[in-house]
Amino acid sequence: MKNGKRLAHFLLHLHPATVNEHALRPSFTWCMGGIAFFLFMLETVTGVLLMFYYRPTVESAYQDVLDLRDVVSLGVFRELHRWGGHAMVIAVVLHMYRVFLTGSYKAPREFNWCIGVLLLLLVLALSFTGYLLPWDQLSYWAITVAANLAGDARPLLLGGDSVAEETLNRFYVLHCLALPLLAAVLMSLHFWHVRKDGISGPPL
Ligand code: HEM
Repeated sequence: MKNGKRLAHFLLHLHPATVNEHALRPSFTWCMGGIAFFLFMLETVTGVLLMFYYRPTVESAYQDVLDLRDVVSLGVFRELHRWGGHAMVIAVVLHMYRVFLTGSYKAPREFNWCIGVLLLLLVLALSFTGYLLPWDQLSYWAITVAANLAGDARPLLLGGDSVAEETLNRFYVLHCLALPLLAAVLMSLHFWHVRKDGISGPPL
């Protein structure tokens, strides 16, 4: 197959030949899945920009975050990243609620519901790991309390007995690399299934 034809086939797969009318109605989908995806892209772009400045060490983390607020030009990306993260958690929960209300978790979409549950856990884990990175009193004690609830998994979570530089390093790698990559893979699978199963419709 020639390259031009291959591209045309790929584009045809991106844009379906037919779309059900209700799938385009925001009153049906609330557009929350799309908004959650948009926020994920926003978090990725602003997060990469923050990585150029923020250093995950006990000596610099807190000061770097203060400098992002007070000194660094375009430090506003930190605010966008923080508020975008909160908004994404809300969007994903509302998306799940819409899917539940319209009964869209039923066959043949039950597998996509399960992928969705994993995505929700990942988004919560992203929010949790990001919370420690400013390394202020609030984040330090919040993670200490959460780790106390983790029982035997505590050393695995913290990388030691208490919240320290090992924890900061562990959370940084999870937050910036492992969790977003896993989320991207699961989102691809999620979208492929949305396309394969089609968007559900209102009850007839
Ligand atoms: C990062 C998180 C997520 C993203 C970006 C995402 C994205 C999307 C998008 C764009 C759609 C197309 C229709 C729509 O916007 O409603 C969709 C559909 C769907 N999502 Fe999600 N989703 C996420 C999390 C979840 C969660 C937490 C669940 C449930 C536990 C879920 C279950 C489903 C199901 C079952 C459908 C098919 C709905 C239908 O056919 O009416 N998703 N998702």
